[in-house]
Amino acid sequence: MNLPENYQMKYYFYHALSWPQLSFVAEDLNGKIVGYVLAKMEEDPEDAPHGHITSLSVMRTYRRLGIAEKLMTQAQKSMVEAFNAQYVSLHVRKSNRAALQLYRDTLKFRIHDIEKKYYADGEDAYAMRKDLQPPSSNASSSTKT
Ligand SMILES: CC(C)(COP(=O)(O)OP(=O)(O)OC[C@H]1O[C@@H](n2cnc3c(N)ncnc32)[C@H](O)[C@@H]1OP(=O)(O)O)[C@@H](O)C(=O)NCCC(=O)NCCS
Repeated sequence: MNLPENYQMKYYFYHALSWPQLSFVAEDLNGKIVGYVLAKMEEDPEDAPHGHITSLSVMRTYRRLGIAEKLMTQAQKSMVEAFNAQYVSLHVRKSNRAALQLYRDTLKFRIHDIEKKYYADGEDAYAMRKDLQPPSSNASSSTKT
């Protein structure tokens, strides 16, 4: 209802069956789903294990209540606990001001790259990342004198 990107049902099943720990829904008091985060692990053997946010959305009348922040925090926590994820990545439209503010300012993602014409309608994406592991003890001890 909220995003132009919609996937085939098998892609949702692929997430649910492969990484059931990582996706969450938010419900209202009557059990109606009002938001979700769909997440997975990336399967690149060349790279450190890392999670990816495939999709995130909250119904219009439930926005600015902290639901997206909570869904994202929960997914990130599970990526670390279940799969030892080192970082989490996502794509966001350059024009999506609300999502960009959520990711960059609230959740502390950084812009890693710009992917030209990433979306089907030709819009560019910011590829964003956030480290999930605390800095190593070596890094902190090297700052001591
Ligand atoms: C982006 C979206 C998921 C945010 O959901 P939400 O539940 O309203 O977000 P939260 O309440 O957790 O917001 C947390 C913070 O994000 C930022 N934020 C969220 N919506 C914002 C908006 N419309 N404008 C500016 N900042 C916004 C704010 O910093 C906010 O903190 P604050 O309310 O204390 O100021 C929601 O607007 C949505 O579903 N949009 C359509 C789908 C979409 O764009 N998904 C992302 C695709 S990458």
